[in-house]
Amino acid sequence: NPAVVRTVPALRRTVEALRAKKATIALVPTMGALHDGHVSLVRLAKRRAKRVVVSIFVNPTQFAPTEDFGSYPRTWKADIAKLADEGVDLVWHPEVKAMYPDGFATRIVPEGPATAGLEDRFRPHFFGGVATVVGKLFTQVRPDVAIFGEKDFQQLRVVTQMAADLDLGVKVIGSKTVRERDGLAMSSRNVYLSAEERRAAPALNRVMKDTAARLRAGENTAKAMAAGAAAITKAGFVLDYLEVRHAATLAPIGSLKDGPMRMLVAAKLGTTRLIDNIAV
Ligand code: PAJ
Repeated sequence: NPAVVRTVPALRRTVEALRAKKATIALVPTMGALHDGHVSLVRLAKRRAKRVVVSIFVNPTQFAPTEDFGSYPRTWKADIAKLADEGVDLVWHPEVKAMYPDGFATRIVPEGPATAGLEDRFRPHFFGGVATVVGKLFTQVRPDVAIFGEKDFQQLRVVTQMAADLDLGVKVIGSKTVRERDGLAMSSRNVYLSAEERRAAPALNRVMKDTAARLRAGENTAKAMAAGAAAITKAGFVLDYLEVRHAATLAPIGSLKDGPMRMLVAAKLGTTRLIDNIAV
């Protein structure tokens, strides 16, 4: 079974031991409730470094007061069993007080095109919370590489930018989205879906694929995107956004001439908010 540490001094001691003989270290940050998407990140981590550290921390600073911090799924025993099966070396599982002691008063606030719009428009607290906790995780563990899922594409870009801007010396690597057989992107929050919502949910990915195909076929962008938005609404979602951006920077299209594009979506089914993205 992996070692589990819950305090910063214990983490530092254990990471130092793991680093013996200059072994490289990969970090996989998670909030637990692990599924096959998380497992795929761990497998990529194992290919990229000698030692693998997984953090499990439901980070309160990235949830708004109206969001699901209190009810976020916590499945500790099953999580540890999965990580043991994958041969993970260390699990960093701090208490909230260990991460944010009384008097904690610093925040990393990302700026620029990677943060602008999309999730930031609907969850303005979110990337500040993510950047702050990931910045702390990177300085606590000092990994050589860190693996993030493309599922949270804007998060991947924001974290990559932050690591570069702050010279954290961590190479951020993206990993492909793992999906259910019907195309729904795996997410810890999928357990919130009712049976009926679960049946409707794959429409999100299906409509994105159709819309991307129409764009590739040369259809007018505004027309194809409007049809996509209408199809998502018709499937029972309340749409937050459906947009195409430059994949590398998330800059709005038109601001650059070419390069790969990414379609990103967020929409609510009942009270559950789903996000997804694909290459165009
Ligand atoms: P969490 O939602 O637990 O996700 C942890 C990592 O797993 C993220 O990098 C996410 O993109 C990746 N992931 C989630 N679902 C995936 C899927 N279906 N396929 C591939 N990768 C997937 O994202 C967070 O936690 C937090 O914001 C965190 C980065 C840990 C900071 O608190």
